Amino acid sequence: MALFEKKEIKPPIPPEQMPKHVGFIMDGNGRWAKKRGMPRTFGHKAGGEVYKKIMQYCRDIGIQYASFYVFSTENWARSQAEIEGIFRLMREGLIDVQPHVKEGVRWILVGDRTKFPQDIQDSMTKLEEDSKDNTRLTSLMCCNYGGRAEITHSVREIAELVKQGKLDPADITEDTVNEHLYTAGVPDVDLIIRPSGELRLSNFLIWQSAYAEYYFTDILWPDFTSNDLDDALRAYAKRGRRFGGAE
Ligand code: IPE
Ligand code: IPE
Ligand code: MG
Repeated sequence: MALFEKKEIKPPIPPEQMPKHVGFIMDGNGRWAKKRGMPRTFGHKAGGEVYKKIMQYCRDIGIQYASFYVFSTENWARSQAEIEGIFRLMREGLIDVQPHVKEGVRWILVGDRTKFPQDIQDSMTKLEEDSKDNTRLTSLMCCNYGGRAEITHSVREIAELVKQGKLDPADITEDTVNEHLYTAGVPDVDLIIRPSGELRLSNFLIWQSAYAEYYFTDILWPDFTSNDLDDALRAYAKRGRRFGGAE
């Protein structure tokens, strides 16, 4: 409580109603830049600033896990110039967030990082290592992430165990698949927020969102504020989550 008093931040909903894990599809950067007659990378830079604000806000209001969709397995279809611009911003961003390591944030980089330049991979590993003991907020950064690629990766690891004779196929359960996802150990996502007016998941956390609630808004990600997150949380708190049961 002292924490909220100090920062004068009042969570929009009671702590017991707060989702444990919120996913953000940070979409609309390109359209935001286009509206201003600027290149797409300008929108990605603005989007990165919003990430920092929202990440800190999540921490301050007591969200435990926040996943951010940074770059999908499908985003390699973008122009070389845009991809290089994103690499540059990732490089800067990975250094920029370092001061927050002292503020209780743990980072986990989710996705196949081997496709990124070596220096970016090294910075990702360093950030994870430096922040691994933090417990206030876990910020999952989904980079070269795709839900289908993640499930395929899990299946491949499980098949390897079967091949080595360490696992009987009859013993494979949903938990087994879960334990081999990139997000092993992280609770399922409770709420997925997608700005920019698109009504789809675009391959984000497809296994983990089986029972997630969804919140869509037309706001473009670079315009997204903590007030918009409050609106999403209030809407979430009103939903009746039944998980297949009956009231
Ligand atoms: C999301 O914004 C960021 C990435 C996918 C890297 P977009 O770049 O998709 O922005 P729009 O959808 O074109 O406006
Ligand atoms: C999803 O946005 C990926 C990220 C936000 C990183 P996209 O802009 O790539 O998704 P689509 O192409 O509109 O489905
Ligand atoms: Mg988009």
